[in-house]
Amino acid sequence: MTITSRPWLEQLQPYRPGRHAPLADGSMASNESPLGTSPAVVEAVTRAAHGVHRYPDPLADPVRDELARLHGVDADQILVGNGSDELIYLLAMAYLAQGGHAVCADPAYRIDEISTYVVNANLTRVPLKEWAHDLDTMAEVPADIAYVVNPHNPTGTVRDPAEIRGFVERSRARLVVVDEAYIDFTDDPEAMTAIPLVRDGRAVVLRTFSKVHGLAGLRIGYLVGDRDIIATLRKIRAPFSVGMLSQAAAVAALRDTAYREQVRAHTLRLREHVVRLVEAAGYQAVPSQANFVLVVGDEAELMDRLARHGVSVRPGSALGVPGTVRISVPSERGLELLAAALADADHRPTPVDTP
Ligand SMILES: Cc1ncc(COP(=O)(O)O)c(C=O)c1O
Repeated sequence: MTITSRPWLEQLQPYRPGRHAPLADGSMASNESPLGTSPAVVEAVTRAAHGVHRYPDPLADPVRDELARLHGVDADQILVGNGSDELIYLLAMAYLAQGGHAVCADPAYRIDEISTYVVNANLTRVPLKEWAHDLDTMAEVPADIAYVVNPHNPTGTVRDPAEIRGFVERSRARLVVVDEAYIDFTDDPEAMTAIPLVRDGRAVVLRTFSKVHGLAGLRIGYLVGDRDIIATLRKIRAPFSVGMLSQAAAVAALRDTAYREQVRAHTLRLREHVVRLVEAAGYQAVPSQANFVLVVGDEAELMDRLARHGVSVRPGSALGVPGTVRISVPSERGLELLAAALADADHRPTPVDTP
């Protein structure tokens, strides 16, 4: 007989990652960059590979210094993690463990839910309102942490900066975690960010290198917050969780602003094409400010139809929104695959009879 896990882990469902398509251009399930990463990143990683017999910089100081300049904060207000997912787990350990209370949207980003259950805390889920966070209702919930994902995953919807500020001011949560994984794909990322709100210690902001920088495979993200919060999280983190190659890649990616702009411009342009294709095929697209589009329709039929054309997307039922699929903005070639799948006359959605 093997050892049994802690009782609260028994009902926990593991995270279901997106599937790769047979061709890279058909992979639209995980909101990765369809344009790869910057050549400067590849060069920096190759150079850094000569030093991998050494432990990495424990706090990723070169990355923190670069980020401090970028965001106009001090380096000790930044914590770099093994993907922003690691930072979400650290927040759960520090502020939710053993009976704490979190509030999130329903549907939520899955790791916010899983990390809460892992530390045996309670979770209140507040249904979205017209696909976006219902901040008024969330603000009423007494909690240790409130998670606001802006733009939201899996819907791509946003709440504007004034709404986020208002939420941080009146929320009954002790700490508001604003996850900005997709902020680079909003109309105005500078105006949109909640980083100015971290000053009074009631909010922290999460960012990732996995999206606009194209570093999903290297696992690196960061948190901007109050010094005391960073100091607490430092106590419980694994000392060398961010590898040397990831650190070198992140610094190079931050310096290659032209590449980042290129990815952003591509994403915004192709997102519109995706919406047009989806709507022309008779489905509803949720208005998105992220690098994906949530499509309302017959989930199984859509998954099947897209798979036949070599396109892999995320089924809504894996994301807490059955009856939808989430399509990541693809490459130009990926868009052609998507267009072929959606134009496939054999699979037009059945018209709904209206009385
Ligand atoms: C809202 C949100 N937060 C965090 C992450 C994870 O980022 P990372 O790859 O840095 O762990 C994702 C990834 O899809 C995400 O959608």
